[in-house]
Amino acid sequence: MTLAGETIAAAAPETSGPALTLRLATPDDRGALIAMYLSFEPKGACLGLPPRKEPQFWLENLSAFPNFVVVAGDRIIAHAALCSDAGSGEVAVFVHQDFRGKKLGKRLLVELIAEARRKGLKKIWGMTELDNVPMLRLARSLGFSPGRDPREFFLTL
Ligand SMILES: CC(C)(COP(=O)(O)OP(=O)(O)OC[C@H]1O[C@@H](n2cnc3c(N)ncnc32)[C@H](O)[C@@H]1OP(=O)(O)O)[C@@H](O)C(=O)NCCC(=O)NCCS
Repeated sequence: MTLAGETIAAAAPETSGPALTLRLATPDDRGALIAMYLSFEPKGACLGLPPRKEPQFWLENLSAFPNFVVVAGDRIIAHAALCSDAGSGEVAVFVHQDFRGKKLGKRLLVELIAEARRKGLKKIWGMTELDNVPMLRLARSLGFSPGRDPREFFLTL
């Protein structure tokens, strides 16, 4: 994708809704991101994320890093962030329950990998619950390997 945004589907799959666009988040997205997380389910299921209450504080912390969103009309339906330091980065991907299973998580994680390469990171990783089969399978499908702790997944770039 380009940082200006890429239309990734003509419409929300199986609907005649608005086109879906994947792009970098901007400060103006904060309200729509909060709205997504207030109705997100399940809350707290991925090592306490997304937060059960007051997602604005968590989103504020994430705003120091690259964040990507999938937008449908005036709604944000998926979000991902790459929290990096000098050489490595942690990935996190969240797709609203109304839109799971439609490859949006995969598109976002591909974008985080590309962003990590652009930033010259050597390694990216993530961590989730052991029973989060969708996230663990998604990570493995893009080449991540399990860590010593099986809740972790790593990709060397
Ligand atoms: C994990 C999550 C991001 C996946 O997003 P998604 O858009 O639903 O997933 P995708 O449609 O892109 O699926 C990509 C791959 O993930 C795996 N996957 C996704 N959903 C799955 C499911 N229900 N069961 C098993 N594997 C699944 C599959 O390997 C799939 O590839 P395939 O369809 O070719 O088999 C999404 O389920 C989610 O937001 N979950 C709640 C929040 C969370 O746990 N986030 C992880 C934070 S690190």
